[in-house]
Amino acid sequence: MDIHKKLRELEEENLLLGEKLVENFLHTVDVLSLIVEALERFYETSHSRFVANKSAELAEKLQLGPQEVFEVHTAALLHDIGKVALPEVINSKFIPEMSKEQYSLYKQHPELGRQMLLRHDGFERIARIVGEHHERIDGSGFPNNLRGEDIHPGAKIIAVVDTYHNVMFRRSKDRFSIGDSAPARYGANFLRDTEVRYGQIISHLRNKSNVLYNPKVVEAFIDMVEIERKQLGMAQIERVAINNLRPGMVLADSYYTTYGLLIASRGEKISDKMIATMMRLSDSNELPPRILILM
Ligand SMILES: [Fe+2]
Ligand SMILES: [Fe+2]
Repeated sequence: MDIHKKLRELEEENLLLGEKLVENFLHTVDVLSLIVEALERFYETSHSRFVANKSAELAEKLQLGPQEVFEVHTAALLHDIGKVALPEVINSKFIPEMSKEQYSLYKQHPELGRQMLLRHDGFERIARIVGEHHERIDGSGFPNNLRGEDIHPGAKIIAVVDTYHNVMFRRSKDRFSIGDSAPARYGANFLRDTEVRYGQIISHLRNKSNVLYNPKVVEAFIDMVEIERKQLGMAQIERVAINNLRPGMVLADSYYTTYGLLIASRGEKISDKMIATMMRLSDSNELPPRILILM
């Protein structure tokens, strides 16, 4: 028997098995993230996708390796998966509106998420990040009051992006998370109120840098959003036919299926997968033939 040939065959088999495992893993993440998105009707744009994309960008900016960036992205996509196990009445509320019992249940969602993900091989590090996304460096976070270096670097990144998105894009009747009042989403003063929210969240992050949040993460994140806001301020909106969409273009509006499932959020970069979904939906008249794009 040709031992070399046999070894080569084994090697190929292993490679194939490796690819299958990766494919399997990505498929699982995909299904889980759809479940998470179904919880997100309390946001104006996809919370999990925003937190995932920005956290991965931030992780790259902070020079984490490709494997770590991938883990941060996946953990951010699934960071609130534990909320699936909470009653809707809790998920629809802001923290100040919760009763004491509701708040203590709410504080279990990182641990619930961690345990859910640990049931699947290969999710160990991702599960840890998910379990720590509400920990804060001064030990005031939950569920375990971890401090500084005890918190996974990925969880410190998600903490900042998560807080930012909650303040900027969480739907509110007459209130948003940092305390002051804000009118409804489509009120006449919406643009000015977005500016107010933005000012508040940036000063919150600066004030709590090195208290709640890692200072390097805060600094890199503020840099990133300021650059993006400048670019958006200069951008113009154009209607682009679906078959002319290209990966990397930025959406100027959010798009939903007829059943209300979010396809893509305002401000999100278009991916190949998104284009394929949009083409399919436009064929069945579920989407307009032209999409609003920032140019
Ligand atoms: Fe959370
Ligand atoms: Fe969140």
